[in-house]
Amino acid sequence: MDYHLGLVLICSVLVLAAGSSRNLPILSFDEGYSQLFGEDNLMVLRDGKAVHLSLDERTGSGFVSQDLYLHGFFSASIKLPADYTAGVVVAYYMSNGDMYEKNHDELDFEFLGNIRGKDWRIQTNVYGNGSTNVGREERYGLWFDPSEDFHQYSILWTDNQIIFYVDNVPIREIKRTEAMGGDFPSKPMSLYATIWDGSNWATNGGKYKVNYKYAPYITEFSDLILHGCAVDPIEQSSLKCDHAPNSKSIPGITPDQKTKMENFRKKHMQYSYCYDQTRYTVPPSECVINPQEAQRLRGFDPVTFGGVRRHHGKRHHRSGSSRTKATAI
Ligand SMILES: *[C@@H]1O[C@H](CO)[C@@H](O)[C@H](O)[C@H]1NC(C)=O
Repeated sequence: MDYHLGLVLICSVLVLAAGSSRNLPILSFDEGYSQLFGEDNLMVLRDGKAVHLSLDERTGSGFVSQDLYLHGFFSASIKLPADYTAGVVVAYYMSNGDMYEKNHDELDFEFLGNIRGKDWRIQTNVYGNGSTNVGREERYGLWFDPSEDFHQYSILWTDNQIIFYVDNVPIREIKRTEAMGGDFPSKPMSLYATIWDGSNWATNGGKYKVNYKYAPYITEFSDLILHGCAVDPIEQSSLKCDHAPNSKSIPGITPDQKTKMENFRKKHMQYSYCYDQTRYTVPPSECVINPQEAQRLRGFDPVTFGGVRRHHGKRHHRSGSSRTKATAI
């Protein structure tokens, strides 16, 4: 077979497999991860295939992949804490902030608890090469209660695109553009999962604090998939590679998936940096402005999305101590 065609086929098959995440090996906790913090607030369960992370008045907790990866498909089934969860943040993300303090890369899923138990919101964000002054947050409601059952959250990261999935529905696609330059994550990252007290961060600027009367807050992770190229960060050489999709020839999402994504975004997206006129008078280069989307978002928040100028835009600090640092607005 023609080599190039062969590669394209292999990649297509891999991406399809990645998209549905079927046939990908599910790791036990000890095979892929180590505890990051939180002492016995991290508990490994069910033959080592599932993990509880909890937050109580003493500490949150978290884990990290043993390897760093350059590109791949990363996935977990996550069940969020139920009932009153104001100020509680669960994060599932990739970062290399420990290695590159000034120019780190990051890909985030963040779950933001709220005053009403059922009102979890989910946020995605991207940083590349230390682009922390350009927040690329998007925020969405969900079509289910994520504290009621497990749902699958996945990140596909290749050298030219990033796709966030919820239950195999792509909810966000970032295509690498020339103009993004280093803002597109391009250095090996570790995968993290954490639960922490975001009282000063996540819920309306600290209006609603974590109430430890309802502690412990427990989130559970299972179906842990790390399917990528593990690399040695110093040597920049591959240690072991699960044939991660990393070729320029990878096809985008299928037309069917694209429709699903558009429907999701039409219904559930509540915030997008591309339309935030209080932050960006000129949207970042990769933004494709859709007038209908703009109008819909204006319905949520005319000040942010409508161009009514505030005297001072909100500042977006990255909190110093927490591990995930995008800022909720
Ligand atoms: C990333 O940042 C470093 C230091 O700020 C810079 O030297 C490098 O060229 C940047 N890389 C990319 C891909 O933009």
